[in-house]
Amino acid sequence: MIEIKNLKKTYTYLSEEFGIFNDISLVIDHGQWCSIIGPSGSGKTTFLNCVAGLTHPDEGDVLYEAINIHKIKEKTRNNYRRLNMGFIFQDFKLLPHYSVLDNVVLPLYYDEPKRNLYSRARNLLQKVGISENLFNRLPESLSGGEKQRVAIARALIANPKVLICDEPTGSLDLVNRNKIINILLELKQMGLTILLVTHDEEVANQGDVTYRLNLGKLEEVRGNKL
Ligand SMILES: Nc1ncnc2c1ncn2[C@@H]1O[C@H](COP(=O)(O)OP(=O)(O)OP(=O)(O)O)[C@@H](O)[C@H]1O
Ligand SMILES: [Mg+2]
Repeated sequence: MIEIKNLKKTYTYLSEEFGIFNDISLVIDHGQWCSIIGPSGSGKTTFLNCVAGLTHPDEGDVLYEAINIHKIKEKTRNNYRRLNMGFIFQDFKLLPHYSVLDNVVLPLYYDEPKRNLYSRARNLLQKVGISENLFNRLPESLSGGEKQRVAIARALIANPKVLICDEPTGSLDLVNRNKIINILLELKQMGLTILLVTHDEEVANQGDVTYRLNLGKLEEVRGNKL
């Protein structure tokens, strides 16, 4: 499903160059859940952004089936991402001037009949444990864990084929963290491909394979469950 080839990324800050990672290759099969762990600052978020086509790598390719996400036009890339990929950002990235419900429907706002879309959004919000009295609130009035769950609902609205999650349970208590694990396992059962970054070993271990990103390299730490 996803073929990552020889990815390299450096950042330049105040004319000094910093290498983040170099020559990373990885294949994620259809329906596989791949977890990535690694110390803070090791480049996990940067890696996910490159895989999703949100940031261009210096070198390397990312292929979704036959689509080379960094070699297509920006508009095509954005549409591909919007319709096929769910991305859960570490810092949520909810739009501050839109209500909870509007944040969730936004990716598909112009693509689907509104009634159908809003009803799916309500169901998703309920599934991640957001109660109806929060639906019309603005994100600023939510707790960190509530924001995180709204961001998860938004990532699922398009029924994506691929879910890319950056610390999806980082702000959650045990009950809600377990709820999200169960949702991810259920989605995987339905064929979703998952790439997930976490500091929580128990969350990582739910996947089929775990890699550690450290000192610019990706190494497998746990074999495939299957
Ligand atoms: N836009 C940028 N400009 C310069 N350096 C950056 C930029 N974005 C990230 N970095 C640097 O790249 C490194 C990797 O950052 P990244 O956010 O990918 O780490 P991470 O593994 O996700 O960390 P955490 O676990 O804390 O979320 C860090 O040292 C960071 O300072
Ligand atoms: Mg990060």
